[in-house]
Amino acid sequence: MKKLIVANWKMNPQTEKEVHTAVKTLSTSLVSTKNAEVVICPPYVFIPTIRGLKNKKIALGSQTVATEEAGPFTGEVSASMLRDIKVTYCIVGHSERRSRGETDDMISKKMALLIKSKITPILCIGETIRSSDGEYLQVVKNQLTASLTGINKNYIKQLVIAYEPVWALSSTENRHDATAYDFEEMRIYIRKILTDVYSPLIAKSVRILYGGSVSTDTAHDFLTAGADGLLVGKASLDPKQFASIIHSANNIH
Ligand code: PGA
Repeated sequence: MKKLIVANWKMNPQTEKEVHTAVKTLSTSLVSTKNAEVVICPPYVFIPTIRGLKNKKIALGSQTVATEEAGPFTGEVSASMLRDIKVTYCIVGHSERRSRGETDDMISKKMALLIKSKITPILCIGETIRSSDGEYLQVVKNQLTASLTGINKNYIKQLVIAYEPVWALSSTENRHDATAYDFEEMRIYIRKILTDVYSPLIAKSVRILYGGSVSTDTAHDFLTAGADGLLVGKASLDPKQFASIIHSANNIH
């Protein structure tokens, strides 16, 4: 299966012109991409811009979605609206949204609505600190099981989970790097939880990505450690760097 390389642009860039330049630069490099499926999650306003550039090698993603289907919710965007403009992936439960009040219950509602609209949720989970008593394992387990409550078992295998340790994100103060080993341990642990709650077959089908300061230097290591893909923040804002991250999937099987 192709590696899923997702760009999370967060609240960048500031102009449509920059979006054009970034996508055009990236498009040139995507010609030689064989082993990667590329998704860009721009701010909502730029989704139609990227769609208009019509690059078949770039799938559209959203950074969040409303918890409701439709109605009087000022400022919100529904899953069916996203589907209508051809969005196929949506990030849910990103730590930057959790820290602004997004709860597991909201995440679970969002996931259900996305699945109903045939949009693949990219569920972000990850601990804030990694203490030596192993408490972080429980934190990740709680996030995972709480977010999946209410999701029909038949849909679980289509999910994408992004393990993003908050302490390794480029935006975290006093951050430090996660190693490929840190990821590998968590990948095994997540599959074990999914096996216990669902089945080994379902656990095997879910794609598990790594996210947290992925760069040209580290992308290959995480993919070699069994990541089914990468969720890339800061480095995805530089199209050349992002292209080189995408290309690191080329020689991984
Ligand atoms: P980063 O962001 O690559 O800048 O650490 C990743 C993310 O927040 O999804």
